[in-house]
Amino acid sequence: MIFDTLIQLAYMVGALFIVLGIRKLGSPDTAKGGNIQAGIGMGIAIVAAMIAPMARGDNNYVWILGAMVVGGLIGWVSAKKVKMTAMPQMVSIFNGLGGATAVVLGMVELEHYYNGSPMNGGQLVVTLLALIIGGVSFTGSMLAYLKLDGKVKDKHVTFNGHSILNIILLLGMIGVAAYLYMQGQPGGMGLAVLVMIVSMIYGFSFVAPIGGADMPVVISLLNSFTGLSAAAAGLIYGSLVMIVGGIFVGAAGTILTVLMCNAMNRSLLSVVLGGFGGGAAAGAKAGVDGQIVKEIGLNDLAIQLYYSDSVIFVPGYGLAVAQAQKVLKELDDLLSENGVDVKYAIHPVAGRMPGHMNVLLAEADVPYPKLLDLEEANAGFGSTDVVVIVGANDVVNPAANDDPSSPIYGMPILEVLDAKATIVIKRSMSPGYAGIQNPLFFHDKNKMLFGDAKDVIGKIAGEVKGL
Ligand code: TAP
Repeated sequence: MIFDTLIQLAYMVGALFIVLGIRKLGSPDTAKGGNIQAGIGMGIAIVAAMIAPMARGDNNYVWILGAMVVGGLIGWVSAKKVKMTAMPQMVSIFNGLGGATAVVLGMVELEHYYNGSPMNGGQLVVTLLALIIGGVSFTGSMLAYLKLDGKVKDKHVTFNGHSILNIILLLGMIGVAAYLYMQGQPGGMGLAVLVMIVSMIYGFSFVAPIGGADMPVVISLLNSFTGLSAAAAGLIYGSLVMIVGGIFVGAAGTILTVLMCNAMNRSLLSVVLGGFGGGAAAGAKAGVDGQIVKEIGLNDLAIQLYYSDSVIFVPGYGLAVAQAQKVLKELDDLLSENGVDVKYAIHPVAGRMPGHMNVLLAEADVPYPKLLDLEEANAGFGSTDVVVIVGANDVVNPAANDDPSSPIYGMPILEVLDAKATIVIKRSMSPGYAGIQNPLFFHDKNKMLFGDAKDVIGKIAGEVKGL
């Protein structure tokens, strides 16, 4: 009895650490400590969950410890090795494995149930939910990983009318699960396996038609699914810490999904029905064929920046690829010392994951007050002398405002053309993530500086030092 109480107490302390730790993630100053605190909470919960079966005299420690060592090692090594730019892929894999775990738990419990163990109606619903949501999240996340990593192309896994197949799969899966619920014990294991298989096919098929810039939304949606399946598994086992953790992940994923949909001005339904970016690249490019881009030299740009009153840098995915954040901060310091007002405009989906640019710039010790969000930046461009776009593309593409045929039409962008002049630093005229050409590059106000961001910014800083 006391033992059980102590275990529940440990779960509560673990959950408290996780909740308070997550709260600290809200500010860059406290985020690192919050992460450690949440990790400690998770550690307490894991240890308690391992000790708990002792009361029942169960002893599966060799299996449990073995799995923990293998899983822990794989997690540790892959987290150490992963590049910042590949974080979304890693998040997808972790997500998928969370979903797979819920599937295994659901199947184990159903197996017990169909072999005679009692389960009330509520428990059966929760178990079926864990199975279905976990299955969708597992294969959906794995396909998201393959797509993000460029291993699978959208056009290879989708076809016209794909959403009709998805509706059939969804209804079929819910129908069989409802039948299982109503039928009760015994003899449903075969159908339970069918539900598992269909949920996995549906997860794959659900993500298949979604592409381009909609992928981050889908990843956070799948993230929320995984959280819900973990919460459902927590309900099955009466584990407070699993319920709290699952609800947190589910809620965070849902909030992020809504925020990203708002940031891109897309409804969740239009994201889920897919079709972003498909075949539009050629059309968008046609609109700018024959136009000429103007280039600027390193020295000229250094002078222009040095004698400006205000400069806003717009970082994008290319800044992360080049790892140019530290040299950019160096350039910022040199300009700021000369009285230039330097700021950074952060688009909510710049880079490849939410907060990507904030993390990069924090790594280079850029003070947080220098970062402007989309609204602040758009209000400030009008009074800015030069906007320097460093490895960003889609997030400054004016086609989102004025080309209804563009796949990113309607997505809020950084309105850099409101500034007196814009400079784009990138290696070539290649498009960005959405695969579409950018009319900004050909605009009268704009000049291009071609090269790797780190190399180019380093050289500009060198030129500024010499002024
Ligand atoms: P993108 O539109 O992807 O453009 C990045 C640009 O960086 C490319 O055009 C590339 O041009 C340039 N680049 C690459 N390596 C470079 C280097 N070493 N030096 C200089 N430039 C380099 O980036 P963005 O403006 O940040 O927009 C993000 C896109 O990703 C959006 O479409 C967004 O929806 C999508 N997305 C976002 C997320 C999240 S949540 N942030 C997740 C997945 C997808 P060159 O090849 O010519 O250099």
